[in-house]
Amino acid sequence: MPQAQLARVLESQLASWQQRTGRREAAIVDVGGGTGGMATHLAASGHTLTVIDPSPDALASLSRRATEAEVADRVTGRQGDAGDVSSLMGESSVDVVLCHRVLDVVDQPSEALTSMAAALRPDGLISLLVPGRRAAALGHAINGQIEAADQAMDDPRRFDLDQIVALFDAAGLELVAEHGIAALADLVPESAVESSAARQRLLELEVRLSTDPVFRALAAHLHVTGRPRP
Ligand SMILES: C[S@@+](CC[C@H](N)C(=O)[O-])C[C@H]1O[C@@H](n2cnc3c(N)ncnc32)[C@H](O)[C@@H]1O
Repeated sequence: MPQAQLARVLESQLASWQQRTGRREAAIVDVGGGTGGMATHLAASGHTLTVIDPSPDALASLSRRATEAEVADRVTGRQGDAGDVSSLMGESSVDVVLCHRVLDVVDQPSEALTSMAAALRPDGLISLLVPGRRAAALGHAINGQIEAADQAMDDPRRFDLDQIVALFDAAGLELVAEHGIAALADLVPESAVESSAARQRLLELEVRLSTDPVFRALAAHLHVTGRPRP
């Protein structure tokens, strides 16, 4: 998963939030944040991060990683479930919720999203990353797995924008922006991106394609930014 592309999209959405609110540092909750790659990255920019994850092993790695990155004073791990975010953090207490590659593993995505939305301040932001439905079908078909490609189109663990908009609506959220992440990366042979210059060139192309409606629909991951409906 191209973390660099995701970080670019997220940083630009955070910059818009900073401009809109006039605040520099955000209280961010990373739901299912795992070992804290994104949390430590954002903490290094001065934000305060809480990672909520059910895995004690992931939280232990998070703690080590935050210490190594010298951001331990701004990163807290809490064991919990995506559905517990508002009870763990308190209602209307969080500036930004990240939920990256987690909605596809929780038992009740709609309830989880509703809890995350309830934790957001009225001027808050949610950043959601989900696996794309069409990319899954395409990936199976390219490998000759025709039955799996067909099933992927009905797989409730894969998403398209219409589904996310419906989930947002039920949770009291409205759409801010949508981007395709990794429209090409999984399709490009590794031998073509061995040099750092080639990887940088691919990243720039991915950034360009991330807002193109056709590439966005076929991207491996869909990134959706939302905010509480007024
Ligand atoms: C694929 S990893 C994603 C980690 C990180 N967000 C990322 O994008 O690199 C899924 C994470 O979700 C966590 N997870 C699994 N079930 C969860 C649940 N019900 N609520 C919150 N997190 C959950 C796992 O422990 C794991 O850290």
